[in-house]
Amino acid sequence: MDRTENLAVAAAGAVMALFFGALVYAATALDIDVPTCITDMAPFSEGKVIDEGGNRYEVHMVAKMWAFDPPEVRLPPGSQVDLYLSSADVTHGLYIEHTNVNLMAVPGSVNAASFRLDHEGEYDVVCHEYCGLAHHRMMGKIVVAAGAAPAAAATTAHAEAAEGEAEGASEGAALYESKGCDTCHTTDGSEGIGPTFKGLFGSERHFTDGSTRKADEAYLAQSMRDPNALVVDGFDPMMPEEPLTDEEVEELVEYIESLS
Ligand code: CUA
Repeated sequence: MDRTENLAVAAAGAVMALFFGALVYAATALDIDVPTCITDMAPFSEGKVIDEGGNRYEVHMVAKMWAFDPPEVRLPPGSQVDLYLSSADVTHGLYIEHTNVNLMAVPGSVNAASFRLDHEGEYDVVCHEYCGLAHHRMMGKIVVAAGAAPAAAATTAHAEAAEGEAEGASEGAALYESKGCDTCHTTDGSEGIGPTFKGLFGSERHFTDGSTRKADEAYLAQSMRDPNALVVDGFDPMMPEEPLTDEEVEELVEYIESLS
């Protein structure tokens, strides 16, 4: 090697050493970490929104087959959000449209992102990791609106009471689609992954454990809350636990009743 080559190699080595030194200095003396979405927080199973004051909100989001909990989060514009994401079952994804928030929901761990929501509007939250049958329906929503109710009260989408059974049934019909019931349950008597809703109300149900029961309001409500406690003969125990408010359960029962 001639002199110029030696010089070039030495200079390159010196630059590398300088970079490495700077890296070690930043990591130790300045305590600077590389950006990460991984936390050492313990996994949680309940979604919630915590108002930290000063327009800062901590959102605990649980991904599960096939919904996000809370299904809807309402925040005022200018909210600074610390989002923590966990999964109740398999690996899911979370992407908030119109933002660069894109996380994985990994069972047994919590991933996090911090971001600001300045613009009013409805942001769809979608699962972008294939997680089973109803993956394509797994959606949540963040609503950014001035005067949005304090975020903690935001976990239920349907606050007002429905009036009359007809109205309940039509609300129930909407829930039947939005909650993804239609993925497995038909309403025309045809075969599905789960029992059809047609003629279900009031019928005699036979279960895999050999017991029978009449499909009354209490039974239907229980089946929605604890889907796999009693499994109808001939079906697999695979119904996901969908977070439903008391009112939503009532509306779905009224809808099923209307199909009898
Ligand atoms: Cu959850 Cu795909």
